[in-house]
Amino acid sequence: MGSATALDNVSVFLLLLPLFLQLSPLMAEEPVPCPATWPDQFHSVLFINRSSSLQKVDLWYDWPNGRNFNIIQHQLGVLSYDLEWDNGTSFYYTLHPFNTTCKVVHFDVGILRPNWLDGATFLGHKNVDNFLCNVWEKADFITYYEDVVTRRPVMWVFSSGMVAHLMTFEVGAVLEDANWQAPVYCFSETDTGSSLLESSIDVVSHGTLIRGIPHTAYA
Ligand SMILES: *[C@@H]1O[C@H](CO)[C@@H](O)[C@H](O)[C@H]1NC(C)=O
Ligand SMILES: *[C@@H]1O[C@H](CO)[C@@H](O)[C@H](O)[C@H]1NC(C)=O
Ligand SMILES: *[C@@H]1O[C@H](CO)[C@@H](O)[C@H](O)[C@H]1NC(C)=O
Repeated sequence: MGSATALDNVSVFLLLLPLFLQLSPLMAEEPVPCPATWPDQFHSVLFINRSSSLQKVDLWYDWPNGRNFNIIQHQLGVLSYDLEWDNGTSFYYTLHPFNTTCKVVHFDVGILRPNWLDGATFLGHKNVDNFLCNVWEKADFITYYEDVVTRRPVMWVFSSGMVAHLMTFEVGAVLEDANWQAPVYCFSETDTGSSLLESSIDVVSHGTLIRGIPHTAYA
């Protein structure tokens, strides 16, 4: 019974095949490409140019564990941490030997979904960083460049002007749990002062990737 049905399906397919082949030239307008869904877990090194200040960022995207990490090395400056949980809590902190500061921010959305680029508007092809890329725009906020051949992200640009170049894209790489622990002073009640607040708001409003995207883009 089952195999008979399978055979029927095959013969129907074979019958219809010439029809499809015939039709395809009529529908030959190039299909609009969609951005690749993000892998559930990856590590990227990014070079970011924001208002002419440079950063090297380690991005650890970890969807199954509901967490995302940006470890931000400012050029010849501070190393800062932006640890984001899918429950909406983000920790922005620095560690010794830099000033030990922490700012906790609660968002009403979690981290980006792997398919957060769904519904992006295709803009065409462009050569960036010596890669031929498909280009999309999402929510008037980010322009996203993906290598046509490998479908890896190459670059993204925020409307704020911040440009991120992906230097590595290690699919499946996971940062060990021990590194996802915010320091104790993130959990104390003491007010840590205005200089911290200022630098943290700077991080929050410009974001590195995940929180730099408006909430409308999270859907
Ligand atoms: C960073 O961006 C600024 C402004 O677009 C540009 O003038 C500068 O050359 C860029 N720096 C690097 C290293 O790309
Ligand atoms: C979200 O999860 C983190 C990590 O487990 C935790 O430190 C934080 O308190 C949680 N936030 C909320 C609002 O539950
Ligand atoms: C660290 O804290 C000291 C004392 O509050 C301050 O003078 C200094 O500018 C801070 N350094 C950084 C890099 O924020």
